[in-house]
Amino acid sequence: MPILSLLSILVFGLLSSSQLLIVNAQILNDQLTLLAIGEELKLSDWSVKNNVTDHCSWPGIYCSSNNSLVERLDLSNHGLQGNITLISELKSLKWLDLSFNNFHGNIPFSFGNLSELEFLDLSFNNFGGSIPNEFARLKHLQALNVSNNLLVGVIPDELEGLKKLQELQVYTNRLNGSIPLWVGNLTNLRVFTAYENDLSGVIPDKLGLYSELELLNLHSNQLEGSIPESIFAMEKLETLVLTQNRLTGVIPESMGNCKGLSSVRIGNNNLTGGIPREIGNISGLTYFEADNNNLSGEIVKEFSRCSNLTLLNLASNGFTGIVPFEFGLLSNLQELIVSGNSLFGEIPTSILRGKNLNKLDLSNNRLNGTIPESICNTSRMQFLLLGQNSLRGEIPHEIGNCAKLLELQLGSNYLTGNVPPEIGHIKNLQISLNLSSNHLHGKLPEELGKLDKLVSLDVSSNQLSGIIPAALKGMLSLIEVNFSNNQFTGPIPSFVPFQKSLNSSFLGNKGLCGEPLSNSCSLNDSDGNSYHHKVSYRIILAVIGSGLAVFASVTVVVLLFMMREKQEKAAKDSTTEDADEISNKPVILAGNVFLENLRQAIDFEAVAKATMKDSNKLSTGTFSAVYKAEMPSGMILSVRKLKSMDKTVINHRSKMIREVERLSKLCHDNLMRPLGFVVFEDVVLLLHHYFPNGTLAQFLHDSTTSDEYKPDWPARLAIAIGVAEGLAFLHHVAIIHLDISSGNVVLDSNLNPVVGEVEISKLLDPCRGTASISAVAGSFGYIPPEYAYTMQVTAPGNVYSYGVVLLEILTTRLPVDEAFGEGIDLVKWVHTAPSRGETPEQILDARLSTVSFAWRKEMLAALKVALLCTDSTPAKRPKMKNVVEMLQEIEQT
Ligand SMILES: *[C@@H]1O[C@H](CO)[C@@H](O)[C@H](O)[C@H]1NC(C)=O
Ligand SMILES: *[C@@H]1O[C@H](CO)[C@@H](O)[C@H](O)[C@H]1NC(C)=O
Ligand SMILES: *[C@@H]1O[C@H](CO)[C@@H](O)[C@H](O)[C@H]1NC(C)=O
Ligand SMILES: *[C@@H]1O[C@H](CO)[C@@H](O)[C@H](O)[C@H]1NC(C)=O
Ligand SMILES: *[C@@H]1O[C@H](CO)[C@@H](O)[C@H](O)[C@H]1NC(C)=O
Ligand SMILES: *[C@@H]1O[C@H](CO)[C@@H](O)[C@H](O)[C@H]1NC(C)=O
Ligand SMILES: *[C@@H]1O[C@H](CO)[C@@H](O)[C@H](O)[C@H]1NC(C)=O
Ligand SMILES: *[C@@H]1O[C@H](CO)[C@@H](O)[C@H](O)[C@H]1NC(C)=O
Ligand SMILES: *[C@@H]1O[C@H](CO)[C@@H](O)[C@H](O)[C@H]1NC(C)=O
Repeated sequence: MPILSLLSILVFGLLSSSQLLIVNAQILNDQLTLLAIGEELKLSDWSVKNNVTDHCSWPGIYCSSNNSLVERLDLSNHGLQGNITLISELKSLKWLDLSFNNFHGNIPFSFGNLSELEFLDLSFNNFGGSIPNEFARLKHLQALNVSNNLLVGVIPDELEGLKKLQELQVYTNRLNGSIPLWVGNLTNLRVFTAYENDLSGVIPDKLGLYSELELLNLHSNQLEGSIPESIFAMEKLETLVLTQNRLTGVIPESMGNCKGLSSVRIGNNNLTGGIPREIGNISGLTYFEADNNNLSGEIVKEFSRCSNLTLLNLASNGFTGIVPFEFGLLSNLQELIVSGNSLFGEIPTSILRGKNLNKLDLSNNRLNGTIPESICNTSRMQFLLLGQNSLRGEIPHEIGNCAKLLELQLGSNYLTGNVPPEIGHIKNLQISLNLSSNHLHGKLPEELGKLDKLVSLDVSSNQLSGIIPAALKGMLSLIEVNFSNNQFTGPIPSFVPFQKSLNSSFLGNKGLCGEPLSNSCSLNDSDGNSYHHKVSYRIILAVIGSGLAVFASVTVVVLLFMMREKQEKAAKDSTTEDADEISNKPVILAGNVFLENLRQAIDFEAVAKATMKDSNKLSTGTFSAVYKAEMPSGMILSVRKLKSMDKTVINHRSKMIREVERLSKLCHDNLMRPLGFVVFEDVVLLLHHYFPNGTLAQFLHDSTTSDEYKPDWPARLAIAIGVAEGLAFLHHVAIIHLDISSGNVVLDSNLNPVVGEVEISKLLDPCRGTASISAVAGSFGYIPPEYAYTMQVTAPGNVYSYGVVLLEILTTRLPVDEAFGEGIDLVKWVHTAPSRGETPEQILDARLSTVSFAWRKEMLAALKVALLCTDSTPAKRPKMKNVVEMLQEIEQT
């Protein structure tokens, strides 16, 4: 059959004019090449069986309409590997997309033979070696993307001749050397990204001078010198990201000429001088981030003219003066971060009127006013960080209006008066309540006990008195407390978080007794008669005072004992291991298992070692890779290794440990709880139960083609409801998931779904890290459209991603599939079915919907829910809670 078809082409060719003959010979050559490529890459749909004559109808292939030569090849996102050298035989190729596969080895030099190529995307693979010099022959190339590979060496000078380049993307590789000068000579360059490499030297001073540069992203390199004025010369720049380099010099005034500039991120450099007043001319400015530089002068009031400004971060510089009153005009401002400067004056009440203000960080300045009563007129405020200033006066009772607050930092000021009981009304408060190092007096209000989500409470170094109210036992999430250096009296309430604290959390009080302090309360003390107690306290104080040396020596003895024990254990371990393995021993920096009964079974070293072997790898996600780890005890764990580029995690290890510990207490059948964690070198590992049944993605997309496929709609509906319940619970405790996908849902032995990667949302702070925004938005195909411009992860965004999972369950189709057509994903494909004249039934997996009328009816009802969830307008999507209700209703009827 195939031979016949090839012959027919050939014969047709022979009968035609000589020009056609040449073309037909090429067509034949293309088909033979495609067959060979298909065989090498195991593409089963590429065969003459499917369509006798026309390889142009094979998936991923697009031919020129007039002569049937292959012009476009799109093999993106297929998990492919193998030898791709043959692709260079497709001489007419203009457009080649091999992104998101598992190709490795060198990029074939022969790609330089594709002389017609205009678009080449090799991103998101494992290509190694260097960028081939042969690319210099691709004279028509307009877009080159080799990002997210393992490429080394320099960006070759040979590519200088690629005069037509409009988009050059080489980010997240291991490239070194400097940015070649010729990049500055490209007259068509619109997009240039080279972030997350090891590039050094200066940014070419002509970059952007001759071309309409729109996007420049060079963050996380070692670039030096100043920000060249040239990049603003054509006034077309929209996004500028230079974070985390070694740039010096001033912010050019000409930045103000770029009216369309929306995002400027130049933090973590060594820039000097002031902010140019011309900044006010950038009417579209949305993000301005210049933290951790040596900038100085006043915070210019001209920012107030940038009416779309959403985030302003000028932290850790040398700014002085006041926060301009005019900032009240910034009605879209969500985050104002100016900590670590030398600002003084009042907290600007005008800003507090902003309806969208979510984070106000004025900490570590010299603010010397009072906390205004209008502090929480805006109901959105989640982070109010005013610590380390010179604030005077009392904490206003109106603080209770801050209903959404997650963190309240007022430590190290000159605040007086009582702790207002209204703080107890802030039910969402969970990260921290810090009132330490002020002049607060009076009793601690019992209302604080209502803060059942709070993790950290610090009221140390004030003049607080009275007993520690037993009502504080209501603070069920508490991990860290500090009551030290006050005038508290009476017994410390018996409450695990208190007794587990260091005694330093309670020291320096006149009359406290009981665990964890070493002075026990005498029997009569409990009813408030504290005379004996005071005596015994004084005795102990005297002992401690006169015996600091004793204390120190006890500490030394304990430490020595611990060290000896450790050495003995190490010696014992090493006798059981090969000598050369000892040198590879991972150095465990920290680790914990939260469940007492599992401590014996889990060995941190075995956990760390398991993640060093690729054969243990189960899956790779946006933020982490998952490994299977077998313990010496026989227990099997699933270990999630956070990608090391998430430096924020490493730099905030103690915060991370607190978050993981807190999450281990979140208990829901459909959420994966961390069992513990291990930190070694710069690697963070999270431990979970191992689920041998794999992920929902595998369940839907792997098993359905196999012989044992059994249609089972009720099981799928139950899975959909379980996932929805897990997410509804997360939203209930104010946690937004960062990466919902069927690959992040595992199934237990009863097909009960368990949502994983919950921790990541707590460990990564999208507004902080230098990680590109795209890296925090989730998995391909599940990302809600609005993330592209809001750059903020939201609950409605989660509902959208869940809707995609529900569509996958209903259609048994992947979220992204070339079969939908160019630029069309599952969501779009389903939403546009009516306009294509297709009925909903044609969308559903027919193997399920044709089993019975009852199943079909339920699937149609669930499809309606999925359509609601994936509405392009976030506000129109239902809440997760309602999704659960709607699906449960389907199940019951
Ligand atoms: C083969 O391709 C031709 C042209 O694209 C198309 O009309 C025909 O329906 C296809 N045949 C099969 C069996 O898919
Ligand atoms: C086919 O069309 C392209 C433009 O789309 C043109 O450049 C080329 O010359 C045409 N080839 C033939 C054989 O007509
Ligand atoms: C890939 O295939 C080409 C021939 O098509 C061959 O020359 C080359 O050596 C192969 N490369 C590898 C790495 O096997
Ligand atoms: C294709 O490229 C390779 C390597 O660059 C070269 O050796 C070969 O001669 C080229 N073939 C053609 C037909 O141009
Ligand atoms: C690679 O870069 C090209 C050109 O800028 C772009 O069109 C394409 O979407 C990029 N690929 C990925 C996977 O981001
Ligand atoms: C850039 O272009 C200028 C003239 O347009 C030329 O003098 C210079 O040599 C070019 N630089 C590079 C590195 O190509
Ligand atoms: C930053 O620049 C200042 C002077 O402008 C210099 O003293 C300092 O060492 C530089 N810091 C770094 C980290 O380069
Ligand atoms: C502000 O943002 C809105 C919505 O994104 C946009 O329509 C508007 O043009 C922007 N304003 C300016 C001055 O760029
Ligand atoms: C706040 O500090 C500034 C600068 O030190 C000073 O001029 C001002 O008088 C102070 N205001 C108050 C109310 O103390």
